[in-house]
Amino acid sequence: MPSTRVSHLTKEFDTKIAVNDVNFELGEHEFLVLVGPSGCGKTTTLRMLAGLEQASSGDIFFGEKRVNDIRPRDRNVAMVFQDYAVFPHYTVYENIAYGLRSRRAPNALVKERVPKAAKTFRIDHLLGRKPRQLSGGERQRVALARAMVRDAELYLYDEPLANLDAQLRYQAREDIMALHNEKEKPSVYVTHDQSEAMAMGDRIAVMRDGHIVQIGTGAELYERPHSLFVAYFIGTPSINLFDVDIVPENGALFARHPAFSLEISEANQSALLPYVGRQVKFGVRPEDLHVPRMAPFAVTEFNQLQGVVNVIEPSSTGCAVYLSTLDEKAADYTATLRTRMPASYIGKEVPLAINMAKAHFFDLESERSILSP
Ligand SMILES: Nc1ncnc2c1ncn2[C@@H]1O[C@H](COP(=O)(O)OP(=O)(O)OP(=O)(O)O)[C@@H](O)[C@H]1O
Ligand SMILES: [Mg+2]
Repeated sequence: MPSTRVSHLTKEFDTKIAVNDVNFELGEHEFLVLVGPSGCGKTTTLRMLAGLEQASSGDIFFGEKRVNDIRPRDRNVAMVFQDYAVFPHYTVYENIAYGLRSRRAPNALVKERVPKAAKTFRIDHLLGRKPRQLSGGERQRVALARAMVRDAELYLYDEPLANLDAQLRYQAREDIMALHNEKEKPSVYVTHDQSEAMAMGDRIAVMRDGHIVQIGTGAELYERPHSLFVAYFIGTPSINLFDVDIVPENGALFARHPAFSLEISEANQSALLPYVGRQVKFGVRPEDLHVPRMAPFAVTEFNQLQGVVNVIEPSSTGCAVYLSTLDEKAADYTATLRTRMPASYIGKEVPLAINMAKAHFFDLESERSILSP
């Protein structure tokens, strides 16, 4: 049985539809990440789950129970807010304790839990301070500790790591996941950082303009995006995109661009047949471009792309190479290689082999995937 179910959830503010017919179910111990650009309705969705915002229509169920009309404090939900609202006149200790005290937790429990939560988020040396004596990142960790001391039925996080530096963010991510595993309750976590979503979510729901446009595991969204929007939003560096014509030749299909002609893999031919003579958007992820002699597939004349190297960015696993095609329009594209490319390649022309089995194609008008509609 799902622990939480949201059905046709909609929120209208005056003229603005902030959340539009959102549906999802949470497993009993699932970590769901809501991700999407600013203003797409992530915070509003969380606030409706917490009961801080009344839904305009649609239902929210916790287990069998419809909770739309249940007051926030009776929903037993713990939430970390985007603006980490902490009480300015309380000490860090009292701020963290607040989540417990407001539910009349016995003193012994407060004394046990507060130092533990503070230690988890590495603010145990700050327990006597007031929020104005803290940095933004420290305040954010107070807010996290305050939400996590409680035993709630559902945990909601609204971009709780936005103000932390990279190092602290990685630590806090791990702390949140450890607590999530300890508590064995469902969580909904909001971020607009897709790499954080990929790292943390059991499943990810991608939102746009109030809608969930796709929900699935990180691998599903990465490998089988249903739309151009999801393909572009998930993955860093972003997927490479080119407008190509679908052209038949010698019994095969080709994706033709002024700078290249690529043979469409057999598995994808039938889906692309209706597009013969038309233009489509061709997408290939940076990791699916390879140095030809290192490619994990047979390299032919029709799965290579020639381009000029603009920038080489070394990484821990190899490098990211930024190139442009050799036609007049000089379209930019990126390759992430599992090898180092010497700086002497900058300005030179290099061929890269494309794994056409991993290619994506999108309808230009609907922006829907032609392969995973
Ligand atoms: N109280 C309100 N009154 C009117 N419009 C609102 C209100 N709250 C939110 N909105 C609008 O609803 C839309 C969704 O807002 P929401 O805060 O849910 O976005 P978000 O996805 O959390 O964005 P961000 O990533 O910037 O935090 C926005 O266009 C916003 O301006
Ligand atoms: Mg928000």
